[in-house]
Amino acid sequence: MENLDAEIGLSALHEWLASIESRFSIEIDQCRQIAFEHALTGYAESLGETLETLATRAKRGLLDSEHWSMILHLATNHETRFFRSPAALKQIGQICQNLSHPKVLSVGCSTGEEPYSIAAALYAAGHDTFEILGTDISAVCIKTAKLGIYKQHPNISSLLAGLLPEQRMRFHPWVKGMVKFEQHNILQDRPVQLLKPNVVITQNMLIYYREETRYEILNRLASMLGVGGYLITAPAETLGWKTPAMTRVHHSQINVFVRSS
Ligand SMILES: C[S@@+](CC[C@H](N)C(=O)[O-])C[C@H]1O[C@@H](n2cnc3c(N)ncnc32)[C@H](O)[C@@H]1O
Repeated sequence: MENLDAEIGLSALHEWLASIESRFSIEIDQCRQIAFEHALTGYAESLGETLETLATRAKRGLLDSEHWSMILHLATNHETRFFRSPAALKQIGQICQNLSHPKVLSVGCSTGEEPYSIAAALYAAGHDTFEILGTDISAVCIKTAKLGIYKQHPNISSLLAGLLPEQRMRFHPWVKGMVKFEQHNILQDRPVQLLKPNVVITQNMLIYYREETRYEILNRLASMLGVGGYLITAPAETLGWKTPAMTRVHHSQINVFVRSS
């Protein structure tokens, strides 16, 4: 009996994995599948369902966009932190040094630490005006990012964020006015709300996707740039991606491309 239960559970999980892959082109690697099953079971229970009955509801088209948004949130990893990639921040600083109003797009920004780190780096470099847009497929993450409230960080100055009780901080309204967030799936055709950014950065998001989908995402990101615009990713994320419009800039720690035509 226990074996049968385990088999039913396993086939429901496989059904969910297949359905998420076909709906969102997201692959959940094996080491995250147990965590996803656990999280999805908890969510199903909160709706008075099981993994199996929720799958049946999904098949009948009885889940709305909020359900799918939460399922997608549970399927992806949102790990992030302030100043996660000093090399990327330094590179952005160099690209923007002669720009009076730099525009940076951070794709797959999770709960917002990456865009705010970029803002802190630009501000420290003397920019008092810039536009940063963070996008993420997860509505839950974007809601957190828009609040701009985090655990205090020693490298976020009180000029940028005011201190709150319980060792928390909130970014000031003038910073939030320049660091905006938008829920957006980069695989959808809807344009983002930032035209011709000087830099597009995506880190630790492409790893979810098969080679073919990664290339599609990279082509989309490249097409958002004007000539002279830069694309940055974390190391080993672009695989063998090449496109005639983009020229690789040598960097020993991260991937950097510039739009040459
Ligand atoms: C591990 S986090 C990386 C956060 C941040 N870039 C960093 O490096 O710290 C990856 C984020 O990518 C988002 N993501 C995955 N697929 C996406 C897509 N198709 N469009 C936009 N965001 C996506 C996930 O929701 C998740 O929050």
